[in-house]
Amino acid sequence: MRQIDLQDKVIVVTGGGTGLGRAMTEAFVSYGAKVAICGRRQQVLEEAAAAIGPAVRPYVCDIREWESVERFLGQVVSDFGQLDAVVNNAAGNFLAASETLSPKGFRAVVDIVLMGTFHMSRWAGAYWIEQKRPGHILNIVTTYTDTGCAFVLPSAAAKAGVQALTLSLAYEWAPYGIRVNAIAPGPFPTEGAWSRLMPGSDFEEMYKKRLPTGRYGRHEELGALAAFLLSDLAPYLTGAVIPIDGAERLQGAMFNYLAQTADRETLKQAFALLRSASRSQ
Ligand code: HXC
Ligand code: NAP
Repeated sequence: MRQIDLQDKVIVVTGGGTGLGRAMTEAFVSYGAKVAICGRRQQVLEEAAAAIGPAVRPYVCDIREWESVERFLGQVVSDFGQLDAVVNNAAGNFLAASETLSPKGFRAVVDIVLMGTFHMSRWAGAYWIEQKRPGHILNIVTTYTDTGCAFVLPSAAAKAGVQALTLSLAYEWAPYGIRVNAIAPGPFPTEGAWSRLMPGSDFEEMYKKRLPTGRYGRHEELGALAAFLLSDLAPYLTGAVIPIDGAERLQGAMFNYLAQTADRETLKQAFALLRSASRSQ
């Protein structure tokens, strides 16, 4: 049985300085890859790169901006001499009653999730096709891309768009040797997600008890799956959307459950509290 081996691979991870992006970066490095991480906050990226080791380089890039993405990926190719895979992990999300959403609030999430993923994929795909090199795009979506989900409308809409992008590009770019897959994680505790989406420790405990496995995901479990997908062990695996959720999705979209826990006014107050708490961090 061959082992996962990412030696000599150069992988870009958007949002690689925090949470699940950082966990995947750590996994890729442990299998021998060099990783370029990006995000908007330089200090966060530098701290993560320093903690993980010299195989990781930090780059400030706002994936909402095409020019920023062009500069970033051009610099990665110039610094490392090649680019083998892009992991579109960066995202934005928050809980809100949809009738209260402002157009700017909706756009803030769509710009990061859907436009950001398009910008990264467009640049990398054109590079691989022009260079006649194989490549891999791995998109991080959610388990509610097929069902929709209450209270996270911008994220549900944008992630469904990313899923459509995954399937469309997998077919269109297969003849060029470019694989395009997605991972759909269930709930994995991270500072970024929990501070915006977990309305209190009571809900966290209550929801955990409902989970078929009785627990949340562990970061290394996602890291191992992502590393396998990017490795040479999976050459025929493309156009797939793979859930890693302990079967959580089978009970319905996560935040639909919130509607059963409290009346709408109480939920709105909880969302407002969560919003001000996550802002003050
Ligand atoms: C309602 C909100 C809001 C909230 C912002 N807005 N937060 N509306 N409820 N909680 C509105 C603002 O009022 C404003 O509209 C508009 O959105 C833009 O706000 P900014 O603060 O300027 O946005 P920006 O700085 O671009 O930040 C984007 C962000 C922020 C998405 C709002 O949270 C962010 O940077 N997130 C990145 C990290 C993240 O979200 N991680 C969690 C991923 S977890 P107006 O009209 O007022 O100007 C995930 C897990 C899914 O996706 C599945 C879990 C199981
Ligand atoms: P996180 O730590 O908040 O990660 C989001 C990352 O995206 C941050 O590093 C953030 O860095 C970066 N980012 C946001 N806007 C950006 C922009 N415009 N340009 C570049 N980078 C940007 O949350 P997470 O939980 O690890 O989420 C990671 C991924 O997993 C997301 O795609 C999320 O939807 C998905 N996911 C998470 C869970 C979960 O339970 N945690 C479940 C399902 C799916 P800056 O703020 O510095 O830019």
